[in-house]
Amino acid sequence: MKVTVFGTGYVGLVQAAVLAESGNNVVCIDIDEDKVARLRRGEIPIYEPGLAPLVEESIANGNLSFSTDAAEGVAHGELIFIAVGTPPDEDGSADLRHVLTVARTIATHMDSKKYIINKSTVPVGTADRVRSAVSEVLAERGRAELEFDVISNPEFLKEGSAVADCMRPDRIIIGTSEKASEQKMRQLYAPFNRNHEKILVMDVKSAELTKYAANCMLATKISFMNEMANIADKVGADIEAVRKGIGSDPRVGYHFIYAGIGYGGSCFPKDVKALINSAEQLGLSADILAAVESRNERQKHYLLEKIDAHFGGDLKGRTFALWGLSFKPNTDDMREAPSRVLMEGLWERGAQVQAFDPEATEECRRIYGERDELKLCDSRDAALAGADALVIVTEWQQFKALDTAALKQALREPVVFDGRNQYEPEDMRAAGFHYYCVGRPD
Ligand code: UGA
Repeated sequence: MKVTVFGTGYVGLVQAAVLAESGNNVVCIDIDEDKVARLRRGEIPIYEPGLAPLVEESIANGNLSFSTDAAEGVAHGELIFIAVGTPPDEDGSADLRHVLTVARTIATHMDSKKYIINKSTVPVGTADRVRSAVSEVLAERGRAELEFDVISNPEFLKEGSAVADCMRPDRIIIGTSEKASEQKMRQLYAPFNRNHEKILVMDVKSAELTKYAANCMLATKISFMNEMANIADKVGADIEAVRKGIGSDPRVGYHFIYAGIGYGGSCFPKDVKALINSAEQLGLSADILAAVESRNERQKHYLLEKIDAHFGGDLKGRTFALWGLSFKPNTDDMREAPSRVLMEGLWERGAQVQAFDPEATEECRRIYGERDELKLCDSRDAALAGADALVIVTEWQQFKALDTAALKQALREPVVFDGRNQYEPEDMRAAGFHYYCVGRPD
């Protein structure tokens, strides 16, 4: 099928590459000329396992191309995805400027029936706004007879496993009330709908709300567990035992109940805020979501408090080794990452940071620039040299095996603050460490 994707961010690029790989002819449109030039050469602007070979292969066989020419893009695709960003406005609501601009661009250039598919995470009612924007432009052009439908088809991929998630989705949500649109979408997704039925067709508004509800439910699970971890701390219980105890009930389940130092990334923080804002605009108060958000903000300070307490509030002149900068493993994304709150807190208290991350070092340099209180290291050992303590922020696989003897030698004091509960407290104590983690007895 002929497909056009507007927006070559995480969602757009992965979706385009996966659709091209399954035999569709896909054109990606982006206004960023430099990015388009790089993508044409097969250079991927983000770190995402498996994406580069997929893009290269489809460019080579002619199924995937990149352009800044919106008219060409609209002419090409019968199915047109809108996958541009919806950054939060100052009040936390999703900024739909880019989505609506693309809608008007499509209407400006279309000359035949188009299926306009919304992939961006957008508040309920956005499909209606896209529909109005397209109709308005078509009327201005005197082409009100041109047919189109606006379909909601939210994306559920996770950074770090985006390609796999997109190729093997656990559900494919299609929000439309038109039979013809449903059929087109079923045809497009047929290669991904093998083995068992994954397609769920529903009305547009329910599809739009499903996306927010999914992310907010997951964020709620995390904040709930973080709250339990804080209680566990005070009563001397072990959150890891509690996790297993409640996860074994299939109504709760084992997924997404790991306590830590808060969720980050481009989705959960933004989507929780946006849904709170939508609720307020509807005259409702999203009490649960407000609590989820405030627990998460506080949780990002969890290790700072432990560090302060251990060093008697005096961190001036101390050096901390930091393992992990990205908001989670297998990505270089540092948006809303707990590492940022931690580093900034340490700097405020006069401490230095020696940080290592397998992928996010460049991103960290881009955000913070060169500064005396930050040394970016190219190995985990380099980050340790002469540090007062080790702080673990992201659970990268390569941090899991710990050489405690070497660690003890490298650090000035045998102290580890672990925000992701990577090691057994008993083992760490036996190895002579003062080991602080989340919701487990110190
Ligand atoms: C999230 C959702 O998981 C995807 O389904 C969704 O499509 C995506 O947002 C989106 O809306 O685009 P992502 O932000 O890539 O994906 O990251 P997750 O793997 O969900 O992790 C989010 C955060 O939760 C991380 O900071 C992680 O460390 C934290 N987390 C996760 C916990 O603290 N505890 C857990 O048990 C699980």
